[in-house]
Amino acid sequence: MLRKLLPSLFALITTLLIVSSCSSKDEMTDDYDPARDYFTFANTGQFVTEHLALDLNVDFESSELRGFAMLSIRRIDADARELVLDTRDLTIKSAALLTADSSEPAEFRLGESHETLGTPLFIAVPDTAGERFDLMIEYNTSPKSTALQWLPPELTAGGRHPLMFSQSQAVHARSWVPLQDTPAIRITYEATVRTPESLLAVMSADNDPLTPRTGEYYFEMPQPIPSYLLAIAVGNLYFAPLGEDTGIYTEPELLDASVYEFADTQAMLEQAEAMYGPYEWGRYDLLILPPSFPYGGMENPRLSFITPSLLAGDRSLVSVIAHELAHSWSGNLVTNATWRDGWLNEGMTSYFESRLMEVIYDVKRVDEERVLMYRELLLDLERVPEHMQALAPRLDDTTSEDFQGGIHYSKGQLFLEFLEKSFGREKFDAFLTSYFQEFAFGTITTEQFLDYLEMNLLSEEGSPVTREQAEEWTYQAGLPDTVTIPSSENLDNAASLAAAWSGGEIDLADVSVEGWSPQTRIHFINSLPTDLSKEKLGELDSAWGLSETSNAEIGRTWFIQVATRRYTDAYEQMEAHLNRFGRGRLIAPVYGALASNGEDRELAQQMFERARSAYHPITAGWIESGLYEDD
Ligand code: BES
Ligand code: ZN
Repeated sequence: MLRKLLPSLFALITTLLIVSSCSSKDEMTDDYDPARDYFTFANTGQFVTEHLALDLNVDFESSELRGFAMLSIRRIDADARELVLDTRDLTIKSAALLTADSSEPAEFRLGESHETLGTPLFIAVPDTAGERFDLMIEYNTSPKSTALQWLPPELTAGGRHPLMFSQSQAVHARSWVPLQDTPAIRITYEATVRTPESLLAVMSADNDPLTPRTGEYYFEMPQPIPSYLLAIAVGNLYFAPLGEDTGIYTEPELLDASVYEFADTQAMLEQAEAMYGPYEWGRYDLLILPPSFPYGGMENPRLSFITPSLLAGDRSLVSVIAHELAHSWSGNLVTNATWRDGWLNEGMTSYFESRLMEVIYDVKRVDEERVLMYRELLLDLERVPEHMQALAPRLDDTTSEDFQGGIHYSKGQLFLEFLEKSFGREKFDAFLTSYFQEFAFGTITTEQFLDYLEMNLLSEEGSPVTREQAEEWTYQAGLPDTVTIPSSENLDNAASLAAAWSGGEIDLADVSVEGWSPQTRIHFINSLPTDLSKEKLGELDSAWGLSETSNAEIGRTWFIQVATRRYTDAYEQMEAHLNRFGRGRLIAPVYGALASNGEDRELAQQMFERARSAYHPITAGWIESGLYEDD
């Protein structure tokens, strides 16, 4: 089944490859509660965590974190006597309950493990602990913690120091901290982190660019965040400023290139504030990680984690930065109540990202990206089962091979573009600004969004949009007919030229590519007919240097074609691409295309086996499901 799905989806899915059988609101059975988080064991109706204090040793020898987590907890149900936390592969050494005047060992036990959810940790909380208490847990992580990747020096840019980083979204925070791992709960946190002396630790917290490199670091995160935004990285990291409130952490070898590539970050931050209200988090820095980072970016607050594959040398891939920055509002400030409402994070952020890109660059560039996004959406809609095509699908803890692909990103963006077009930009911007203000530091469901939308826009006299139309977007499969299909003159032109050249009407030399963006080239390549001859592919390759491209997105597009069309002349360079990058989006679809071209499944498996030790387990999982699973 998975093998048939467009492999490019892999970059956007989470470990939540999880759904059940129906999506439309009407079809839902009574016992499905859309506001409930089905991906946590935590009994958040009885206890809520308010603050977390970590004290951790980072041990590169054993690939483990070791130390203490102290959770400050409030009992909101006076009758509750047992607290349930989420864990995964953690060794719990001891637990103690601390109140204002006592400290008692706490009785605890681990429950049965679940493949997706991990292992519940049950802690007895006697009456005597009162309404507020601190729970001190001594623990260590396992080398196979699903959140942490421990890189040996050879997988870093410098090659001399090890590096580790976390990826907590969606349900992996529990594999490095025992906690209530659900976006429904927000916590402030502080942390003391001990590392080998020459290395620097950074977190999704108040990183100080001037901190002395002592091997002991202290962090505070005063704004309450959901657990999936807890983040840490340790390595031979250095800082360079970009602007007054923005800067870059990365290995020294990548510092100059990163400062050049992401020079517009400060302007993006200022523009975002001008559009949707104050940035609530203090500084905004980027952490540029080694290639094995599985995503394009991750919006860890104050410090987005970023793939080095954006370093194209021409700032052409920085929409990912706009995206992660935009999450500081959509996602981090106003958070999806559960993963079923993920479009409120990702769709709204995709919309915000393109609005930012329009101002920092220009509308033509963004229209190009919109067209590429729309093309991928159509491919998603062909392959993702209907019950997962709603923006707010039914998601519970039933494991399934089905998933939403990137639909919550692109369909979410198109939904908001529809609203913008209907109400006018000015009015819709004012609506979003007040939405961020109203729900700041809160979590909301799709239904709360719809109610707020109705109250503030849809219920106006003469409103151009009805609630029914809005609900078509959130609850129905496919695309409503209120969609505006993106278009770009540049890309239309590239598609016509691709047709003319492949049809033999013009020579490649007549295609004047000067001034073409990478996105235009990508569209040209995607527009080539399936029966294009090998000679023509070779001609294009040598004219445009495709197999040697330094632009990761062009490489992705080209090598998907190479694999699909069995253009074996470029297989060596294709394997080089597969070894060079670790971001799922860039490589999983290439493996997928190779595995499904009818001839090369085994070759794909061999290439994967050669490369896999350098990949993040998340990326390896995406690739594996495309290479080994049966229909
Ligand atoms: N929050 C996501 C990454 C993510 C999603 C991690 C789901 C774990 C589970 C991040 O903001 C994101 O969307 N990254 C995209 C960027 C792109 C759409 C601009 C990526 O990694 O490709
Ligand atoms: Zn995102």
